[in-house]
Amino acid sequence: MKFFIDTADRAEIADLVATGLVDGVTTNPSLVAKSGRNFLETVKEICALVAGPVSAEVTATDAPTMLEEGRRLAAIASNVAVKVPLTPDGLKVCRTLADEGTMVNVTLCFSAAQALLAAKAGARFVSPFVGRLDDVGATGMELIREIVAIYRNYPALKTEVLVASVRNPLHVVEAAKLGADVATLPPAVLRQMFAHPLTDKGLAAFLADWAKTGQSILGPGGAVRAAAE
Ligand code: E4P
Repeated sequence: MKFFIDTADRAEIADLVATGLVDGVTTNPSLVAKSGRNFLETVKEICALVAGPVSAEVTATDAPTMLEEGRRLAAIASNVAVKVPLTPDGLKVCRTLADEGTMVNVTLCFSAAQALLAAKAGARFVSPFVGRLDDVGATGMELIREIVAIYRNYPALKTEVLVASVRNPLHVVEAAKLGADVATLPPAVLRQMFAHPLTDKGLAAFLADWAKTGQSILGPGGAVRAAAE
């Protein structure tokens, strides 16, 4: 499963890219507003930090303007994935950009029927929003199950299921069990995935016992002395 980071915060991205666990980045207009920075400059900087796809969203709602915006975004770097909303105009633009060789991420997907349309329109990614479905009393993960199953029936469809609106590590684990291609994680969720109290407790015990040996792996003659004793 690929992990994308769901943020427009350059410092957060740089920090998490250093873990070697980040395969791409997703942004949206709300995340850009939160960063307080210039959108086009931010996209350019993020594209230089990450080798994988960087989703940048159009903000027009009519197809001609959306297409113009999409082309402008795609010209920033070869790893830009233009994000369009799941509307008739959005899917029209998706088809045109996909035919031009641009990666498209179709966003705001809330039903299997919509996901089928996105795939037919040539989307490289479709983004079903699990957290927002959970928020309204639906089961977001049920949508992932349906989309993955439908796409599996048609191997010719190359659209990847990008699980979005992820709120916790359990969302990621459940999506992985279902075989979703990608999950885009808020930085806090990726950090939460490292955490387990037994890891902390076990490490503390190992270090305490190691301290009793008085040895140092890197200290003068440490390893040699340990072997000789
Ligand atoms: C990512 O592409 C989406 O825009 C994002 O995951 C939405 O998350 P939210 O529902 O927490 O705003």
